[in-house]
Amino acid sequence: MANERKPMMAANWKMNKLVREAEDYVARLLPRVADLTDDVDVAVFAPFTSLPTVGRMAEDSAIIAGAQNLYFEDSGAYTGEVSAPMIKDVGAGAVIVGHSERRELFGETDETVARKATRALDAGLMPIICVGETKEERDAGGMWDKVSGQVRAVMEALDSPSGDAVVFAYEPIWAIGTGETASPEDAQEAIGQIRGLLGELGGEEFARGVRILYGGSIKPANAADIMAQSDVDGGLVGGASLEADSFAELVEAARDSVSRDRDAS
Ligand code: 13P
Repeated sequence: MANERKPMMAANWKMNKLVREAEDYVARLLPRVADLTDDVDVAVFAPFTSLPTVGRMAEDSAIIAGAQNLYFEDSGAYTGEVSAPMIKDVGAGAVIVGHSERRELFGETDETVARKATRALDAGLMPIICVGETKEERDAGGMWDKVSGQVRAVMEALDSPSGDAVVFAYEPIWAIGTGETASPEDAQEAIGQIRGLLGELGGEEFARGVRILYGGSIKPANAADIMAQSDVDGGLVGGASLEADSFAELVEAARDSVSRDRDAS
């Protein structure tokens, strides 16, 4: 890592866990990460049904509760949607925006993603903005066209955010839930390129401060190599975050990358 940015390890539970399971998970996670949160931001993105539970349990701890989606209006006739004030109301401090599953399965566009990110930020929620290409796009040499377009669309909408208020996540779609991880070098290359673009669009100070996570088949066995990359500031984890013990190991891997940098400097 070797920089000033505090790493973040984020669990994206996706559509998993009943309230009781969420409770058991957080109860198991908290003691395991209590000594690590000075060095690593630990976030748990829960479904709306268990978010109040995670939010309540996170309140007296250093972990961050987060939602997996939001709508960009605050209230009104939007059946089935959940707004930023509602998410804050149950103790959450962050929200995933534009996850590839939302984009691919639920028709979210660069425009809706930008509106959601803007609303989250204005409401005081930290948006975790996801970008990434499909296998076909990558194989056709179109990875950067896709990813840079997604980054541009959201940055054009945001009003000069500070680097610590937003987080980006590079999640190549072909690596999500497939067991096929981007190599650490590929993750570094893509995330370095994204940081370069963020410098052009948001200024150097923003680019130096903004955290960019990698997501896609992270597990305890590959986390250390990914976390060792200079531009990779942490992970957004699906499958390997579903067990508290395995997620705690990933938080430890993020902490170890910080300690290595300290020892090296
Ligand atoms: P997996 O870790 O299961 O590949 O999922 C990654 C992801 O989509 C996190 O948001």
